[in-house]
Amino acid sequence: MTALFSPLSLRETTIPNRIMVSPMCQYSCEDRDGLATDWHRTHLGSRAVGGAGLVMTEATAVEPRGRISPEDLGIWSDEHAAALEPIAEFVREQGSVPAIQLAHAGRKASTSRPWEGHDPLGPDEGGWDVVGPSDDPWPYEDGEAPKTEKLDQDGIEAVIDSFRAAAERALDAGFEVAEVHAAHGYLLHEFCSPVTNHREDDYGGDFEGRTRLAREVTAAVRDVWPDDKPVFVRISATDWLPDRESWTVEDSVRLADDLREVGADLIDVSGGAIAPDSTPPYAGPNYQLEYAERIREETDSDIGVGTVGGITTAQQAEAIVGTDRADLAIVGREHLRDPYFALHAAEELGAEVEPPVQYHRAF
Ligand code: FNR
Repeated sequence: MTALFSPLSLRETTIPNRIMVSPMCQYSCEDRDGLATDWHRTHLGSRAVGGAGLVMTEATAVEPRGRISPEDLGIWSDEHAAALEPIAEFVREQGSVPAIQLAHAGRKASTSRPWEGHDPLGPDEGGWDVVGPSDDPWPYEDGEAPKTEKLDQDGIEAVIDSFRAAAERALDAGFEVAEVHAAHGYLLHEFCSPVTNHREDDYGGDFEGRTRLAREVTAAVRDVWPDDKPVFVRISATDWLPDRESWTVEDSVRLADDLREVGADLIDVSGGAIAPDSTPPYAGPNYQLEYAERIREETDSDIGVGTVGGITTAQQAEAIVGTDRADLAIVGREHLRDPYFALHAAEELGAEVEPPVQYHRAF
C-alpha cells in the first residue's frame, strides 16, 4: 500500500487517503448573499469525484463583515447552512470527508474580487466597516481602506459566539471536519501577530494575550463539535518578517501545543500574509513543508500536521506522507488544474482506489 493512499483516522473520522483539497475562495456567491450556488456544488463535488480524501470549502464567513469580498461564502444563518447541506452530502456520497473552513477576514475584509482588482470597497460599492485587534487599516496601495474598528471586549465575545454558532450550523449541514482559519493575516492571525496586535488588554501584549482569541475560538468550536469528529486549525507558521517583531515558527510550535489542549486535532500549516511584505522567500515545491516538519518534531503533544504549498505531483505527496513529515498533503492550485489529482496520483503510484462507478471503464 502507498502511504498517500493509506487512511488517516482522527477521532472517529477516517479520511480514506492523505490528499486534502486546500480551501480556495471562489468569490462566486450570486447577489452578494453568501449562499452556496451551483458553482460551489460543481467545484467541490468534482474534487470529491476526483478522489481527494478530504474536501475543504473555501473560507466561509461566520458573519457578513468577515467576508473578504461580498461574493464570499457565509454561514451566518440557517439558510446558509441549508445551501451547503447538499454539497456536504454529495462529497460524502463520493467517499470523501466534507470539511468546512470557518473564517473571519478582520481588517482584510471588504475588497473586490481578485479579477476585479482586489481593491478596498467603499460603502457606495457595497463595502463595509471592518474590525481588527487595533484600528490601523491594511495598507492598501490603491483606494481608501475601509474604516477599521478596534474590537472591544463585547465585540470579541460576539466574534467567538459567531464562530460557535457557525460550527453548530456546519454540523447541521453535515460537515465532518471544522477548520478554524487563523492564517493569512485575517482576524485570528491579526490578533496573534505583534505586527498587527498593539493591544494592552487581555487580548494583546505577550504571546499568551495575543493568542487568546485563537485559543478561545478553537475552544468554542470544539465545544459544539462532536467528540468523535476532528477540528483543524490553519495557521500562518511564520510572518516571514525576520527584521521586525513578528510571528515566528517557535511561536507556532507553542501555539500548536496550546491548540491541542483546547481540542484541536490537526494544524494545517500555511504561512504569511500579515502585511504586504509578509511573503515567502521561496515559493517552489514544498515551500512550507519545513514549518510543518518543525511543528511535527518540536511539539510536545500528538497534534496532527498537514502541509500545504507547492505540492503538484503524486511522487512529492507520497514522499511527504511516506517519510512521516506530515499526515496530510494539502493541494491547492494543482486541484484547480486537475480536479482528478487524487485519481491520477493513485494510477501513477499503483494504488488501489475505487473511482466512481460511472467512470469504471476509464480507470
Ligand atoms: C487560496 N488560499 C486560501 N487559503 C485559505 O486558507 N482559505 C481560502 O479561502 C483560500 N483561498 C484561496 C483561493 C485561491 C484561488 C488560491 C489559489 C488560494 C490558499 C490555498 O489554500 C493554498 O494554501 C495556497 O494556494 C498554497 O497551496 P498550493 O496552491 O501551492 O497547493
